[in-house]
Amino acid sequence: MLRVVVLVSGGGTNLQAIIDSIEAGRITNAQIVAVISNNPGVKSLERAEKAGIPAFCISPKDFERRELFHEALLARLDEYEPDLVVLAGFLVRIPEEMVHKYSSRIINIHPSLIPSFCGVGYYGLKVHEKVLERGVKVTGATVHFVNEGMDEGPIIAQKAVYVEQGDTPQILQRRVMEQAEWQLLPAAIDDIANGRIRVAEGKVIRKED
Ligand code: GRF
Repeated sequence: MLRVVVLVSGGGTNLQAIIDSIEAGRITNAQIVAVISNNPGVKSLERAEKAGIPAFCISPKDFERRELFHEALLARLDEYEPDLVVLAGFLVRIPEEMVHKYSSRIINIHPSLIPSFCGVGYYGLKVHEKVLERGVKVTGATVHFVNEGMDEGPIIAQKAVYVEQGDTPQILQRRVMEQAEWQLLPAAIDDIANGRIRVAEGKVIRKED
């Protein structure tokens, strides 16, 4: 059984997609053992509590120095002995030590087709604002392994979503969530939980069924 810890920052719609997918049997051999938010009082913590999942807020604001926040985050994570750490709308830079300690065991969902519209400053609604500003006709989402870079780890899966006339960043964000994020992330967790993918020379390989 894959032990999954989900890191969140806000609404938690991706967390909810994982909870619902486990419930519905679209994800097997996995359980969410804890949820950690860097923000207090957010909907993602409520979603975890409603699902009976241990939920914690570990906020950088509660620590004098960044490294103390990193230590607290890592200590809580280690306590739950995760096989997989899922960044689901988590808007905090992952500490280097955590990337190394959980190497190839951290995945992230990013709301664009990497390598477009990603990297420093590209998160949340900002991604969709830039997509509309540039006038691209197709965007989407990417689920990838996390390495030392920002949105640079091996890509697990991607899904394209059409930009439509009259889209606002909010409308586009919702469509990318519905049509891409909420499908890609649970599917990636199910693949990992059932040993269907591995990383070779920086690329994700799907094992032949
Ligand atoms: C959204 O911008 C989503 O595209 C990205 O993180 C943000 C919040 O997602 N992955 P969630 O509703 O908290 O899962």
